[in-house]
Amino acid sequence: MFVELKNIKKVFFNGDKPIEILKGVELKVEKGEKIAIVGPSGSGKTTLLNIIGTIDKPTTGEIFFNGVGIDYQDDEKLSFFRRKKIGFVFQFYHLLPELNVFENLIIPGLIEGLSWMEIERTAKELLEKLRLIPKKDARVYTLSGGERQKLAIGRALFLKPELLLADEPTGNLDPESAKEIINLFIELNQELKITLILVTHNMEIAKKMDKVYLLKEGFLVEYNKL
Ligand SMILES: Nc1ncnc2c1ncn2[C@@H]1O[C@H](COP(=O)(O)OP(=O)(O)OP(=O)(O)O)[C@@H](O)[C@H]1O
Ligand SMILES: [Mg+2]
Repeated sequence: MFVELKNIKKVFFNGDKPIEILKGVELKVEKGEKIAIVGPSGSGKTTLLNIIGTIDKPTTGEIFFNGVGIDYQDDEKLSFFRRKKIGFVFQFYHLLPELNVFENLIIPGLIEGLSWMEIERTAKELLEKLRLIPKKDARVYTLSGGERQKLAIGRALFLKPELLLADEPTGNLDPESAKEIINLFIELNQELKITLILVTHNMEIAKKMDKVYLLKEGFLVEYNKL
């Protein structure tokens, strides 16, 4: 199994009042699979995605990648693993507005210390794939929502992750741009065999994935088993 979650629980504190958002989430995702997670606002979808992406730690429970349990003690090893294996597309883009498209795109390559040749080659490849070549030098604030989302996806793909996590990647887009983004995800999944975990409110989009899970009242249930 590529990703496995066992009995994941997450408690947040509202003042000193504990609130259990995740109450025992179980999930198995195979390599190359594409799945959707749906659920009401506030049900914990972003929380769960952050836990899968190892940027947040469950209160109890375990996560395994290829059978190996995540060790939260070793920060350096964990962030190395995360950089190498996981790409994030956040709910609100997280792009740097004062930089242009090319500069935003290559940030992971710079952090990773890739050679300039490698950075330029990867950037060209991604800009082509995302059909953003004409926007290469444009400032982020001049981009449409769909273009920003494509850029955020490009940045998430820069280091060729095995797992792509996307938090409502079409939430702020018109139906036409949303369709383009989803087709792009499906293409990436098929061509590059990237495993995809997508959070969405849109059932039509969710149904294009291999499996749909519903997060409700702290538990994750496969949709067609409801
Ligand atoms: N760091 C935190 N401290 C306290 N409460 C938190 C924290 N992060 C999230 N929560 C709470 O946990 C619940 C789940 O939040 P989360 O963002 O995971 O929901 P969501 O399903 O992604 O919602 P949406 O669909 O609106 O994006 C919310 O009630 C939120 O207020
Ligand atoms: Mg959310």
